[in-house]
Amino acid sequence: MDDSQHRRSLLLSLHGLSWRLLEAFDGIARGLWAGLWLGLLTRKHLHLVDQLSYEASKSYTASNHNLSGLFGWETEGIDHYFQDRRRLLLLGAGAGREISPLLERGFDVDAFECHEGLRKTGNALRWILGREKLDFGDDLSPGFAHFFTREAIEEELREAGWRLEFFDRRTYPHAVAIAEEELTHISHQ
Ligand SMILES: C[S@@+](CC[C@H](N)C(=O)[O-])C[C@H]1O[C@@H](n2cnc3c(N)ncnc32)[C@H](O)[C@@H]1O
Repeated sequence: MDDSQHRRSLLLSLHGLSWRLLEAFDGIARGLWAGLWLGLLTRKHLHLVDQLSYEASKSYTASNHNLSGLFGWETEGIDHYFQDRRRLLLLGAGAGREISPLLERGFDVDAFECHEGLRKTGNALRWILGREKLDFGDDLSPGFAHFFTREAIEEELREAGWRLEFFDRRTYPHAVAIAEEELTHISHQ
């Protein structure tokens, strides 16, 4: 190994060592900091610290967080352990990130959250998200109407054993369907 290779290897070893020392120092400093404050603050203070830290973080009230759905490990856990369960108790619900996806999976969910601000945000989001969802094709003109696409009509008819014979969406959309059984009957005559 020549001099320059030796210097480079020494430098890289020092870099690795200094990183491990920094990590150890960081761990010790954090441990001391937490120990000091856990010793000084009462339960009441700790509760207030918790409240303030959730208020300051903003991320738990952000709609992109609360609309992001279940985390991968949560989905896996639910699919694995809760398939035959219908009622769930969600503790530490925050502003409710997990609630909608759990409701959509058919669970009956009771949720608890001790932070008032997160509860308020969560309830406001639930009001928006908890509304009955609109379907593509829903309209007000001025009464409520649902306009089916040709594909949706075809699919529904197929499931019921009918075949779409005619579909026209000019003027007022209209369609004619024929029962498959009836067609078979006709073809036998
Ligand atoms: C890490 S946050 C997670 C929030 C939410 N599950 C999410 O993922 O967006 C933990 C939540 O638990 C709440 N929490 C802590 N102790 C609680 C308790 N004893 N009862 C109810 N909620 C609690 C906190 O206020 C905080 O909102």
